[in-house]
Amino acid sequence: MTEQPVPLFNLQTQHDSLKQEINDAALKALNSMKWLLGPETEAFEKEFAQMTGTKYAVSCSSGASAIQIALAAAGIGNGDEVITTPFTFVATTTSVTLAGANFVFADIDPRTYNIDPKDVKRKITKKTKAILPVHLYGYPADMTQIMKIAKDAGLKVIEDCAQSHLALCNGVMTGGIGDAGAFSFYPSKNLGACGDAGAITTNDGNVAELCRSIRHSGRAKDKAYEYDHEGSTLRMDEVQAAILRVKMRHLKQWTENRNRAAALYAEHLKGIPVTPPPQTPHNWSQSFYVYTIRAEKRDALMEHLKKNNIGCAVYYPVPLYKQPVYKGLGFKAEDFPHAERAAEEVLSIPMFPELTECQVQRVCKVIRSFYE
Ligand SMILES: Cc1ncc(COP(=O)(O)O)c(C=O)c1O
Repeated sequence: MTEQPVPLFNLQTQHDSLKQEINDAALKALNSMKWLLGPETEAFEKEFAQMTGTKYAVSCSSGASAIQIALAAAGIGNGDEVITTPFTFVATTTSVTLAGANFVFADIDPRTYNIDPKDVKRKITKKTKAILPVHLYGYPADMTQIMKIAKDAGLKVIEDCAQSHLALCNGVMTGGIGDAGAFSFYPSKNLGACGDAGAITTNDGNVAELCRSIRHSGRAKDKAYEYDHEGSTLRMDEVQAAILRVKMRHLKQWTENRNRAAALYAEHLKGIPVTPPPQTPHNWSQSFYVYTIRAEKRDALMEHLKKNNIGCAVYYPVPLYKQPVYKGLGFKAEDFPHAERAAEEVLSIPMFPELTECQVQRVCKVIRSFYE
């Protein structure tokens, strides 16, 4: 008997379980004739702020635009330097460039894969204006150290929360620790729209107002054709807001389910020579966007998993300093030994809220058989 495939993630089951509600909400928004910045968007922003424990949420067109808007609202622009990680999705750095600033890489902590505060400190120059940590795989970056460094050096902090919905650092949810948080609702994210969408969270009313203006062509508040900033067309639409409101009601449960699946992995991977994700300290919690192990002979293991119909992927196989688009910038791989090694060794295995213990056992059995 052939065993059932285990996909890397599974959007179908979740969508099927909410299909009627999603269809009703989307249709209602569609027929309201208020397609942008209407009641669904307003309600979504209130609910998302509440969910993330922040005072304000400003919806926008994607996670990438959320970073770009948040940087611009923090006053980061031409010639400013923003310190970030090279071990992330490319939108982290393209958003810095689109905001008019220059990104500078600090290496990662090999245990958590997140930006290493010690290296951030070394990379500060007179031009540095902000730190842009990414809470990779849903594991919070070391915000205690990062906020201290930022405070001492007078820097802004924009959190890239694309992968960390509801993750906690020192009891505070990511997105509410720095000056602003940037969230993605790309369909496969922990909270995913049926298309592209994003949001900025902040506890600063002025930052929120600026974000609202920048996403809406730089419009002055309540003025139809008066502009007090340079912005762009970066709004989220009502249909996505309506869909996200339906899905958001399940986010807490989905996050708990992901974390339960992660605990099962930790149990079933015991005795297998791979490194599981790090444990979070007291008062922290990871919101497992993906479940990432570090594995010897990673590429061969990946082949073995695929042959056995187990979904897996590498996030990210090519660190950003090696990307063709950044070739001319003079980065040297030897300056980022931990990112280099991580790119060669990490492997993400199936993770989604509906993952069953049987499926976790099967994945672990296949991994075990590779090393035996
Ligand atoms: C770490 C990180 N930053 C930014 C983004 C950009 O989000 P979006 O795809 O919604 O623009 C993503 C999403 O893929 C991401 O994983």
